[in-house]
Amino acid sequence: MKTAAGDPCRLLFSEILRLVPCDRIALAMPLSDGSGFRICGAHPDGASFPDIQIPSQGSCAAHVAAHRHGELLSALGTETHYAEEEALYRAGFRDAAFVPLFLGGELQGVVIVGRSEVNSLEARSIRCLEKVSGLLAALLAASLQTATAAPPCPPGVVPFARRIPQEEDLEKICRGLLEAIRERTGVRRAVLTLLDSEMKSYQWFFTGLSDSEIDELHRAPLSDEKQREIFKAGRDSSVTGEGADGLHVPLFGTRRRPLGYLTLAGGDPARDFLPVVELMAGLVAVALERNQLLLEIKRERSRMQKIQEQLLHAERLSALGQLVSGVAHELNNPLAGVMGFAELAMRENTNPRCERDLQRIVKESQRCQHIVKNLLNFARRTKAERRALSINDLVENVLDLQSYQLKLDNVKILPDLDRDLPRTLGDYHQIQQVLLNIINNAHQAMQEVDGERALVLRTRAEEGVIRIQITDTGPGISPARLSRIFEPFFTTKAPGKGTGLGLSLSQGIVKQHGGEIRVDSVVGKGTTFTVELPVREVKEEEAPESVARQEAADASHTILVVDDEEVIVDLLREVLAAVGHKVETAQSGEQALDKILSTPFDAVISDLKMPGLDGAGLYAQVCDQKPEMAGRFVFSTGDLAGAATQDFFKKTGCPYLLKPFDMETVRSTLSRIFSRS
Ligand SMILES: Nc1ncnc2c1ncn2[C@@H]1O[C@H](COP(=O)(O)OP(=O)(O)OP(=O)(O)O)[C@@H](O)[C@H]1O
Ligand SMILES: [Mg+2]
Repeated sequence: MKTAAGDPCRLLFSEILRLVPCDRIALAMPLSDGSGFRICGAHPDGASFPDIQIPSQGSCAAHVAAHRHGELLSALGTETHYAEEEALYRAGFRDAAFVPLFLGGELQGVVIVGRSEVNSLEARSIRCLEKVSGLLAALLAASLQTATAAPPCPPGVVPFARRIPQEEDLEKICRGLLEAIRERTGVRRAVLTLLDSEMKSYQWFFTGLSDSEIDELHRAPLSDEKQREIFKAGRDSSVTGEGADGLHVPLFGTRRRPLGYLTLAGGDPARDFLPVVELMAGLVAVALERNQLLLEIKRERSRMQKIQEQLLHAERLSALGQLVSGVAHELNNPLAGVMGFAELAMRENTNPRCERDLQRIVKESQRCQHIVKNLLNFARRTKAERRALSINDLVENVLDLQSYQLKLDNVKILPDLDRDLPRTLGDYHQIQQVLLNIINNAHQAMQEVDGERALVLRTRAEEGVIRIQITDTGPGISPARLSRIFEPFFTTKAPGKGTGLGLSLSQGIVKQHGGEIRVDSVVGKGTTFTVELPVREVKEEEAPESVARQEAADASHTILVVDDEEVIVDLLREVLAAVGHKVETAQSGEQALDKILSTPFDAVISDLKMPGLDGAGLYAQVCDQKPEMAGRFVFSTGDLAGAATQDFFKKTGCPYLLKPFDMETVRSTLSRIFSRS
């Protein structure tokens, strides 16, 4: 099938093939009498496409044009909904997506992309095409203009007419035009002025002008009014201004969009030179517009690629999060065992050599505990609490914690706090974690440099935002590293010194607070991290965070320890017995229930997740049958992240031990229970 639009389709189709995976494309063009559409080009083999007319009633092309969005038809040939389905099936389409191409509100055509395999075209492809449909429409319009609008060429212009529409280099297009004008018409001086979408001139090309004339042109460009005059529609001739500054020939794009204008003067032009110039200007206008469209498509394509990469990254992170949280959970129980038994052994040991080794074990397992906690934090992204926060208090608090270490390493601390900072809502511990990590990073970085070391902490409030800036005089971060520091597990620190999770976690926390974290760094000078938090209105009842009250009331009590992990049961038994408690154990919920119903206990420490009757089930049954025991439960858990777990603790108010726990926490939690009864 050969049509005037056969060639323009080539460009459109090659764009589409680059954007979406498909092996069939057809273009349906609206008929001028509104009676429907006609297929005006097809890929891969236009000639074999059935020459059909698509009606305006009952066709998918008409449907998508009326509703202005795309539609996916899968498994063509099984059931027929639309008029053109059979023809598409005959042309090898098994799936097809229809996307209308609108330009400035006017339908240019409907593009039909398809695949020769059933159910292989993705809905994503339609969304992708819809996103660029404006551009495709413009591209189509411009190409059609090339194919149809060109009047017969006088022989002298033929080489130009062949070359220019194919040219992709803006500079070559414009220079080519000016050269051709000088050669073909005898005009001596010509200026091509290009306009942007707001009719502002942004680029000039000249031929035959002296330097002073060029200067003059730049100094006194044409007035807006004069420019408007050039493009005024409906005049007989396109040429205006046959005055001192020469003739002006406008360059129109599709829908008479002004693209630029030519100014011609001097020389001894041939009598019929104007139609030739107008013809060439028309060809150049098409080439210019296509050039702009291609640029826009390129921009759009790279924007889409970026979005795709971000999505992929997010998917990868969430899979990684699941893996990490699984591994961290598995490590919790053995780690609690190692820590606890080492502490116990230390207490009973009298051999000084063993003492040192045991201390090592405790210290290293604490490091593991820290890593596991970080991993779980990374994977879980718990919901942030919303409490009233004074950011200045928080900063000072963090400094109190760190100042001793910083001073030991000769770091001068320079606080610069805005005393009028408003309060905001947030999670105290999470923001503290963010600041601690940034300060730790700065501290570690400054250890690499000799000379003056200073840490500036600045707080400011501005337009509903609280800004915290932490600046160090460390070695700075190279641009290559800078782009990676927020990636999880990216670290440049020696093994054991960093897991590479600090900044990735911090970024997650700050984002959850509706804020932003940024970094600026100059190699050899230092680094500034900026944390911005939105100011959220604090209502009076939202009391400031207070440190939990702790009581110590150790006396001899009877305690039941329930856990399906033997190492935890053994550990708790030993620890609690060592301080004088009487300890019973159970390794399942069922066993525990029997014991609780038959024996009085002062406290029950139970694992939450157990096969069979789990912690929550055990608690429910005990509350039912022995309600006085309800306030005596402490639960141990490896993870607070699950909604069910959080709900459970909120509803019951039961205290919990987060695995791996240290012995001090176990004792202080128990003493809270004992002090209640
Ligand atoms: N102030 C800084 N100056 C120089 N480099 C820094 C600074 N802050 C961060 N970095 C670089 O960013 C990397 C990532 O930091 P991040 O806090 O995420 O992980 P980490 O400190 O290596 O390990 P973790 O925080 O998990 O213990 C660091 O290893 C370091 O290379
Ligand atoms: Mg860190």
